[in-house]
Amino acid sequence: MLSAIIVAAGSSERMGFDKVFAPIAGKPMLAYTIDAFERTPCVDEIILVGRSDSLPEFQKLLPAKTKVSNIVPGGAERHDSVRAGLEKVNRSSEFVAVHDAARPMITPEKIELVFEASREHGAATLAEPITDTLKRADLVAVADSAKAAVDPFDSRSGQVLAVTASVDRRALYAMQTPQIFKRDLLESAYRRAAGKKIALTDEVSAVELVGHKIMLVPNQDFNFKITYPRDFLLAEFVLKQRSSMPSR
Ligand code: CTP
Ligand code: MG
Repeated sequence: MLSAIIVAAGSSERMGFDKVFAPIAGKPMLAYTIDAFERTPCVDEIILVGRSDSLPEFQKLLPAKTKVSNIVPGGAERHDSVRAGLEKVNRSSEFVAVHDAARPMITPEKIELVFEASREHGAATLAEPITDTLKRADLVAVADSAKAAVDPFDSRSGQVLAVTASVDRRALYAMQTPQIFKRDLLESAYRRAAGKKIALTDEVSAVELVGHKIMLVPNQDFNFKITYPRDFLLAEFVLKQRSSMPSR
């Protein structure tokens, strides 16, 4: 059995307004995310984690026949929200998927692929190969920068951002969601993180702590996290384009 936790309890600070219910082509972002999991055959139950003040709104988004078993309030940090969801997972569930509500471009096909990899290896995540050239950079004092005299950037603080080193991108991937694990593995990883008081930005970081290998499923399709207002424009284009294509 596979349970999916969709975390939607963030405060959308970088967006400037509650992105979870913001419309994309007339439908709230969260509705696309829920719909992808409702349509994925291997997903048996869905647990929604939201801000306590918006939980009644979540209920309204659900189809008459839904896999959503629980709608629960999240916490201050993303990992607190994941923990709140984990507590509601059906005890007979062997696998748990965690997905960001802010990734509405996820498809049933990709969820199935990550589930297959997790069944084989116990832990798997969708990941995006990096295509840009990457550099390390750091703030340096203006006086130390050869360009400083002609570069007005950040002159008030007396610092500019300068390249310090190259990074080989061939072995680098950006972590996406869903991330899917054997339930007992994810639970013990979260217990380990709590004991060490480590702040986690995703589940891969938790499972790394218990030394378990995590398989990557490279994703060539759009699945970026809706973070800034500009992201809605591209998401709307992608989702409209897909809805005009034969079902996938
Ligand atoms: N999330 C959550 N609980 C939190 C923080 C985040 O459930 N305390 C969820 C968000 O709702 C989102 C996902 O985790 O679906 C990824 O987080 P992010 O994109 O960073 O969303 P926000 O935290 O809401 O945005 P920001 O960081 O700009 O405030
Ligand atoms: Mg956040």
